[in-house]
Amino acid sequence: MNRVYDDERLAGAYERGNEMPEASLRAWVELIASYVPRPSPAIVEIGAGTGMFSAAMARWIGGSSVLAVDASEPMLAEARRHHPHPAVRYMSGAAENVPAPSDAFDVAFLSRVIHHLPDRPRAARELARILRPGGVVIIRTTFRERLDAVVYDYWPQLRSADERRFPGEAELLADFATAGFAVREVASFAQPVTASLRDYHSRLIHRPQSKFASLTPEQFHEGLQRLAAAARAEPVEQQVPVIERYDVAVFCRR
Ligand SMILES: C[S@@+](CC[C@H](N)C(=O)[O-])C[C@H]1O[C@@H](n2cnc3c(N)ncnc32)[C@H](O)[C@@H]1O
Repeated sequence: MNRVYDDERLAGAYERGNEMPEASLRAWVELIASYVPRPSPAIVEIGAGTGMFSAAMARWIGGSSVLAVDASEPMLAEARRHHPHPAVRYMSGAAENVPAPSDAFDVAFLSRVIHHLPDRPRAARELARILRPGGVVIIRTTFRERLDAVVYDYWPQLRSADERRFPGEAELLADFATAGFAVREVASFAQPVTASLRDYHSRLIHRPQSKFASLTPEQFHEGLQRLAAAARAEPVEQQVPVIERYDVAVFCRR
């Protein structure tokens, strides 16, 4: 298993550096809610990280309860500190071995986690076990063939590393078909993550994502300098939001 998130520095930086404007988070939860098969759903978030989505789903999907599972204790500690909610239970566990009974959930949500899983077919089988028939898996990721994040404009070396880490669309669809899921939809969804390039720069100063661990300190610094120069060049009155686009794959348990 990828243990990079066991680093307490990264867990703290992740919470600060990956917040989303409330309107963007709400738009994501509305998209998730559009796939929920019944009222008051039981939701499991796998790789819940610092809990931003788990708490948001509990707040805005009426009557929902959320089991938020993550393999990293430091990430769970940040989640409990920053995103407590009476309908969310944070629990240590792995995608390949979820601490829950069979047929327990209506929805499983995985955001930015599928590329971390060392045995994706096994995780897909585990999701089939814990979901009820008709339950849905919603995967928020970027497929290898569509890697287009703003971060590559400033750290181009990250693209080739991510081409090795992220699954292609056909691979993911095949793993879930083999595990007993039908494809419901593959969509693309984009939302602002910061109000400006300046805000984006001040967030990335803290190296808030695991992908930066593959860079030397010099490579990280050079990219940050490129980003700082671009942010300075953006006139204050012409600032535009930084937008991140994701692929969303939705599967239904047969
Ligand atoms: C990039 S973070 C995503 C956090 C959150 N879902 C989000 O979108 O902000 C990836 C998370 O997946 C967790 N993770 C990695 N491998 C895992 C596994 N096999 N089982 C459960 N969680 C895992 C890490 O500990 C980390 O918290």
